[in-house]
Amino acid sequence: MVALGGNFNQDFVLTWGGDRAKILNNGQLLTLSLDKISGSGFQSKNEYFFGKIDMQIKLVPANSAGTVTAYYLRSDGLMWDEIDFEFLGNLSGEPYVLHTNVYSQGKGDREQQFYLWFNPTVAFHTYSVLWNSQHIIFSVDGTPLREFKNMELIGVPFPKKHPMRIYSSIWNADDWATRGGLVKTDWSKAPFTASYRNFNANACIWGSGVSSCISKLNNHARLSAIELDLKSKKRLAWVHKNFMIYNYCTDRKRFPQGLPPECTATGSL
Ligand SMILES: *[C@@H]1O[C@H](CO)[C@@H](O)[C@H](O)[C@H]1NC(C)=O
Repeated sequence: MVALGGNFNQDFVLTWGGDRAKILNNGQLLTLSLDKISGSGFQSKNEYFFGKIDMQIKLVPANSAGTVTAYYLRSDGLMWDEIDFEFLGNLSGEPYVLHTNVYSQGKGDREQQFYLWFNPTVAFHTYSVLWNSQHIIFSVDGTPLREFKNMELIGVPFPKKHPMRIYSSIWNADDWATRGGLVKTDWSKAPFTASYRNFNANACIWGSGVSSCISKLNNHARLSAIELDLKSKKRLAWVHKNFMIYNYCTDRKRFPQGLPPECTATGSL
């Protein structure tokens, strides 16, 4: 089942932005740049259907205000599923915001935002998505930030019907990204460059309507692990207490008719 990664030439295609997107060092490094004319992006060749997907990313250093670097999984079609990491840049020395969202069947509106406990521009850090039929876990360097549980039992659609591809891109979003759009991109600092390395997918690959996991029951069971262990739960609580800056589940203004059901069910966040 396992799609072990390691080589960007093998696993990804550069999709837009011309030579602003580059694969370097024999496939060991990938960079995306943004300048006044265009951003850039790449996507995975494979579609994945459950698994744990890790990418090391080093974000745009110094003044990255107005830029957004997005890294996400997404399925095709109008009723798409999506699992998003978006990194909102900032002035030098001011904190990035990590914006997360989960879409199922074309509907998102499930944002949570975090500051990070390190500067994500000086070194590579590992951003991971664990996705199986029971939950989605976003984590950074092994520390879980967010868990989105399968709550189909109370009518919340869960992304488990479609395989997803991995995408990443960098673009200008200075109308909203930094301090809600107050801080604009300083084009004299362009190009803005984010770097990627050590992609690893311990995941089921989807091809011609069949999952590579079907025959490997043991591995599949491991991917289906249901619960965070106690240590991970503690880490998650630590992140929520100290670094979470926005949670749709507490935004009553946004949902005047009542918070979404996954927010009010017991044991959820
Ligand atoms: C940028 O820095 C300001 C000031 O510290 C902060 O309020 C904001 O949340 C930071 N991040 C973004 C993306 O605006």
